[in-house]
Amino acid sequence: MAGMKVKATTVGAVREDVLAFTAGNDIELDRDLVEFDCIGTAAHAVMLAGMPVRPPVLRPADARAAVRALGAILREARAGRFRIRPEDQDCHLAIERTLTERLGETGRRIHTGRSRNDQVATALRLHTKVHVLGAIREAAALAVTLTDFAEAHETVPMAGRTHLQPAMPSSVGLWAAAWAEDLLDDAVLLVNAFELADQCPLGSAASYGVPLPIDREKTARLLGFSRPTHTVLYANHSRGKIESIVLAACAQVMITLSRLAQDLILFSMPEFGYFVLPAEFCTGSSIMPQKRNPDVLELVRSRAARVMGCAGVVQEILRAAPSGYNRDLQDTKEPYLEGVAATRAALRVLDPLIRATKADAPRLAAGFTPDVFATDRALELVAGGMPFRDAYHHVKANLGAVGAGDPVRAARAKKHLGAPGGLDFALLRNRAAGADGLAAAERDEFNGAVSRLLHMRYPPAAGR
Ligand code: ARG
Repeated sequence: MAGMKVKATTVGAVREDVLAFTAGNDIELDRDLVEFDCIGTAAHAVMLAGMPVRPPVLRPADARAAVRALGAILREARAGRFRIRPEDQDCHLAIERTLTERLGETGRRIHTGRSRNDQVATALRLHTKVHVLGAIREAAALAVTLTDFAEAHETVPMAGRTHLQPAMPSSVGLWAAAWAEDLLDDAVLLVNAFELADQCPLGSAASYGVPLPIDREKTARLLGFSRPTHTVLYANHSRGKIESIVLAACAQVMITLSRLAQDLILFSMPEFGYFVLPAEFCTGSSIMPQKRNPDVLELVRSRAARVMGCAGVVQEILRAAPSGYNRDLQDTKEPYLEGVAATRAALRVLDPLIRATKADAPRLAAGFTPDVFATDRALELVAGGMPFRDAYHHVKANLGAVGAGDPVRAARAKKHLGAPGGLDFALLRNRAAGADGLAAAERDEFNGAVSRLLHMRYPPAAGR
């Protein structure tokens, strides 16, 4: 260790092993953030050029050159051609170094009035904007797919279960509509998380502001945020907090998806045979020729555990962090990026799987053992005037006499609000359209703001 090399960085000389330890996985992880840092830095440059100081920190032409260079870096990053070097530590210093190499003095002036702390926080919030909005739209799309599945199978009977034991007549329609509604509530949490993330922390600098007339309203506006965060100290405290809130919403989405996956795994077992999973979503075994395993659904289940773990890691890091920036916060980045990406991937993979899943009506009907009709039998006696508790005991004492009923009729007979015969598919679709419309409008606003800021079409290629 005595001969350990010391490496020059943008911000001083550091031992190589210390550099490797403190940079952690940032060199890899920050590839997802280069684009967002370019956008944040462009807004900062435009703001600096308008700052009322003499001599100016940046002249308008310097800001234009910076914006152009940042647009070029963004495109290079998208094409996988922007490299973060170990001595850069992270994407933020890599971008500053590159600007300095390409523009000279403008690059050396770009960091005026900001810190890497508000810079990272801003880049992460921009990432959140894009990816939480994407998740909202994917959750809404899956909710619509589940609603379509529900409507297509509205009258297909399915024995309702409690404690996994056969309970009462129900339908595939109710089963699928319930998962749709579950996901629509999760989408509300994502929308709430988005609204909290939609505040700009830029200009808070190291946590305490700067003695320069920076215009935080302006950078917030240029970046398409609804407003700046207020106190510069909270702006930094919210690093990790926003990630934690987003992950909490993602965890709820994943809990829903995991439970849906669990139902599908269970009910597609040969012993049940209620559902047939699409072959193209199942994998075979290396030894057992007959196998068609529900791997996708199993991985949705385990990814839920991982996303909840990510949420827990971020909470634990935050819990112990004192006020102001602390390097601990850097370690919230990996679980945040993993959790959001895993949630979006699960939402996307389940949509076509549900579309291609088949319900086996005869097998579902075969699940209606006579006892499934026991409660209905008691309620028939109630209809004839008997008090419910008496009817309950009468049926309980004569369970063998409860004959098999008609599963379709029994499920349809429940017509009240939200019951198998009273499902309002339009209500579910309207909720999905509301969430999707909100996310699409926010995305358009963000893309518009970035396109104006960078003087280029954003996003540059199709997608997202
Ligand atoms: N990569 C670091 C992070 O994600 C940048 C901030 C470093 N700030 C500092 N004061 N050392 O947190």
